[in-house]
Amino acid sequence: MLDMYSKCMHVASAFKREGNEVVIKGWIYRKRSSGGKQFIVVRDRTGTIQCVADKGKISNEEWESLDKAYVESSVIVKGLVKKDERAPGGAELDINEIKVVHSGEQFPITEYQSTEFLLDKRHLWLRSQKMTAAMKVRSYIFKYARQYLDKQGFFEITPPIITTVGGETGANLFGVDYFGEKAFLTESSQLYAEAMIYSLEKVYSFAPSFRAEKSRTVKHLAEYWHLEPEMAYFDNNSSMKLQEGLVSYMANKLAEKHADLLEPFGVKAEDLLKIRPPFKRISYGEAIEFLQSKGSDKKWGDDFGVEEEKLLTENEDKPIFVYNWPKEIKAFYMPENPDDPKTVLCADMLAPHGHGEIIGGSQREWRYEKLLERMKELHMDPERYSWYLELRKYGSVPHAGFGLGIERVIKWLLNLDHIRDAIPFPRMINRLSP
Ligand code: 4AD
Ligand code: MG
Repeated sequence: MLDMYSKCMHVASAFKREGNEVVIKGWIYRKRSSGGKQFIVVRDRTGTIQCVADKGKISNEEWESLDKAYVESSVIVKGLVKKDERAPGGAELDINEIKVVHSGEQFPITEYQSTEFLLDKRHLWLRSQKMTAAMKVRSYIFKYARQYLDKQGFFEITPPIITTVGGETGANLFGVDYFGEKAFLTESSQLYAEAMIYSLEKVYSFAPSFRAEKSRTVKHLAEYWHLEPEMAYFDNNSSMKLQEGLVSYMANKLAEKHADLLEPFGVKAEDLLKIRPPFKRISYGEAIEFLQSKGSDKKWGDDFGVEEEKLLTENEDKPIFVYNWPKEIKAFYMPENPDDPKTVLCADMLAPHGHGEIIGGSQREWRYEKLLERMKELHMDPERYSWYLELRKYGSVPHAGFGLGIERVIKWLLNLDHIRDAIPFPRMINRLSP
C-alpha cells in the first residue's frame, strides 16, 4: 500500500527509469478522462509527467478518488515508466497504484485571469510553472552572489532592521513605534556595514531594505532585498571592478547551469554568457552630453529617470557605469572628487535594455571634519549620527561599498515586465497582502 512516507523519486529522475516501476509524489497539473481511462499530468518541482489510470487495473476506490480529484489535488503515484513518443518528455507512467493525499476543493485559478486576481491569489499562483522558474532563479541568484563574495574573501554580516539613522538616500521611511521612541525600518544597511570593516575588512550584508516611496513604477518595491558589500582600502575604481565581477558571475552561472530556467522567459543563455568585465564607464558629464545629443532636455545637475536610463542603455548588451555624479543629488557620505569638486566619487550601474539602475555605490568620506562639514551643509543632525561619525575618530581608513537590488537584477536577467515577479510576496504601494 502506498502511504505518505513511501520512498519516491522526482519526476525528472522517473523519465530516466524506462521499464521500471517508480513512485512519484506531486500535484495534479492537468486532468482528463476518456473511455475507461483517466489521464493526469503530475507536477513536482522538477517537471511534469503524464500518468494513465486504467479502470480495470486499479481498485474501484482508487478510481473514484482520482475521478473526484481536482487540478492541484496532491497525489502519490506508483507506476511503470513506459516509452511513448507522443507523450511530452517521451515517456508516461502507467499507474499501478494511486493515492490521493488531499483532494481539496476546486482550484480558484483557471486559465485566463487578471493580473490583480493573480496577485490576490499570489500564495497559490506561486505554483505556476513561470513563478516556479522565477523563484528557482531567485534562490540561485542568492547562492551565486554569496558564492562570489565568499571567494573574494568577504564575511557576511547581519545588520539591524530597526534603526534610528536613515534618510541618506532621499527615500521616505516607514516609521516604527519602538517602545515610545521613534524608529524606522532600515532603508540601507550601509552605515552598519561601514562599522564592521574595522574588524572584518571586507563584509557584506544581505537583508531587506524598506522604502516608503509612493512609486507606481515597474521597478519599485516598498520592501526589497539589498546586497551591500563594504570594503576597507577600496576606492571607487576597485569597487567598480568588484561590481562588474559579481554581476558577471551571477549572469554566467545562471547561463551555464540553469539555461532551462531561462527558457520560459525567452532569455538566451548565450546572451548572459556575454556579460563579462569590463563594463563601459562614462562620467555623469558625458552622460548628460550624450542625452542632450539624443534630444533630451536634461541639464547638468538633474537626476535621471526611466527615460534617461533607457536612452543610455538601449544599444548596450552589458550593464554600464555612470560615475562621478553631482554632489547635490547624491548622499552626504560621498567624498568630493578632488579633480572636480562639483562632483562626488561614486557610480551607478545601469542594466541594459532600459531595466535601469541595479547598483548604487561610492567611495565613503573617511575624514571626520569633512564628513561633519558636509552634514552641517545639509542641515543634518550630527547627534543622530554620532556613532557613525565616531567611526572616523579611531583608525579611520579609506573605504568604498555599494548596494545591489536583488529584484532589480532578477528583473533584468529574466527580462521581466515588472519587478513584483522577482519576489514571492511583493510589497508595493497598493499591496500588502498576501
Ligand atoms: O541607490 P540606493 O538608494 O543606495 C543605497 O541605499 C546605498 N546606501 C547602497 C550602498 O552603497 N550600500 O539603493 C541601492 C540599490 C539600487 O541601485 C537599486 O538596485 C536598489 O537598491 N533599490 C531598489 N530596488 C527595488 N525597489 C526599490 N524601491 C529600490 N530602491 C533601491
Ligand atoms: Mg541609487
